Amino acid sequence: MIIAIDGPAGSGKSTIAKFIAKKLNYRYIDTGAMYRAVAWSANNKGIDLDDENTVGEWVKELKIEFITHPEGQQVNVNGENATGLLKNEVVGRGAAKVAAQKTVRQILVAKQQEIGQAGNVVMDGRDIGTQVFPNAELKFFMDADAEERGKRRYLELKARNLDVDLENIIAEIKQRDHEDRTRTISPLIPADDAIKVDTTKFSIEEVIDKVMEQINLKQKS
Ligand code: DC
Repeated sequence: MIIAIDGPAGSGKSTIAKFIAKKLNYRYIDTGAMYRAVAWSANNKGIDLDDENTVGEWVKELKIEFITHPEGQQVNVNGENATGLLKNEVVGRGAAKVAAQKTVRQILVAKQQEIGQAGNVVMDGRDIGTQVFPNAELKFFMDADAEERGKRRYLELKARNLDVDLENIIAEIKQRDHEDRTRTISPLIPADDAIKVDTTKFSIEEVIDKVMEQINLKQKS
């Protein structure tokens, strides 16, 4: 079975996707990490992320591997462990830029389809249910109010002792949403047959229960 989980930043999709993958003993693929890997590595190489042609040539040569460890997933980019280097705002902004480029999307979507071909995978992103696996057996679209998503991000960063401002974070989330939802190629929209889950007022445990209920129903049918 292929389980597609899409949604905006901070909707809880990766927490849920990781949990479910572990529970079902499926592979978890964080496709956002692939867009981040392109931005991070191109930037290290001195490539201007606005230069679509050069980024496009770069992504064709790039080797991105997901290695599953008991304590989590490792992302190797051209053989280098980049896991801890991808989850920051600078790389996130770069990822949003390259994610709007045609060649980058074509190549990463093809890689994602190849990875998912073996089945038993939980894949999260923005376009998994619409573009990558339009025939996925189960699709979820997670969402939450921007204010709530901002608060979650704020608490996460605070816990890492970072000096952050809640209003700024909410503004950044709204800006990123706008970019992801309005870009011309593969904008963030729910697939027609996606199960929509608004996580604003629910705890992680409650969302997991809702999602597992749907998975159990699917497995019985
Ligand atoms: O989920 P994330 O924050 O790690 O994603 C980083 C960026 O990549 C974000 O701007 C959305 C984009 N993205 C995408 O366009 N399609 C995907 N399948 C996954 C992420």
